[in-house]
Amino acid sequence: MIRQKIVAGNWKMNGSKESISLLINGLLEMEGSDSEVVVAPSFPYLSQVESLISGSAIVLAAQNVSQEVKGAFTGEVSASMLGDFGVKYVLLGHSERRSLYGEIDALVASKVKAVLDFGLVPMFCVGETLAEREAGKTLEVCERQIQAVIDVVGIAAFEGLVIAYEPVWAIGTGLSASAEQAQEVHKAIRDFLAQSSESVSQKVQILYGGSVKASTSSALFQMPDVDGALVGGASLDAKEFIAIVKAAG
Ligand code: G3P
Repeated sequence: MIRQKIVAGNWKMNGSKESISLLINGLLEMEGSDSEVVVAPSFPYLSQVESLISGSAIVLAAQNVSQEVKGAFTGEVSASMLGDFGVKYVLLGHSERRSLYGEIDALVASKVKAVLDFGLVPMFCVGETLAEREAGKTLEVCERQIQAVIDVVGIAAFEGLVIAYEPVWAIGTGLSASAEQAQEVHKAIRDFLAQSSESVSQKVQILYGGSVKASTSSALFQMPDVDGALVGGASLDAKEFIAIVKAAG
């Protein structure tokens, strides 16, 4: 099965109106690509980025969402608000949200449901810590995180979402998983999904995230179960990010 590659930039809590304008203008110089190119700015910049990318092939993502639909939830942002700004993807289950903001599996699952209910696409992150990897628990952790979402939305809904495997030990450390390590986990995730639905397991795109750089990306993208990348730090540099997009083909 041919799955389109996705190269997504998670800008995290970085940027200003000025730097974002420069970054997007740099990205707009990119030649056409067979991969889908996605950028995820912080909430205040969604409108600015929506305007800047209008008419281009670049797609907008948000970094978080409320599990609630509307109402008295001060400080929260709903899926329908994101839809209002042309957002397609919403990052969910990122390890920074899990570890720093107490987002447990059940909350992540309810956010995935809120995003799907509104017709947007969750970019659902899973991954183990270094201690969990060293204890041989990598797959157990990823499967637990995925099962929590299956329990709430059902396996069929996975056709409408993207999974990002982001080993916590590789995030922002400069220590990327090797292409072989990524492939091993991606394949295991696909096999796990296949236990519930073979066809869904073949369709779902699984991205790798964790210190992806232009220099390491070609090897990753050659792996049969790596369908793209979720890029943090390197996505803040237009040239570097474009080089990663080129490597994806
Ligand atoms: O979501 C992307 C991410 O967590 C990886 O960040 O800076 O290691 O590429 P980075």
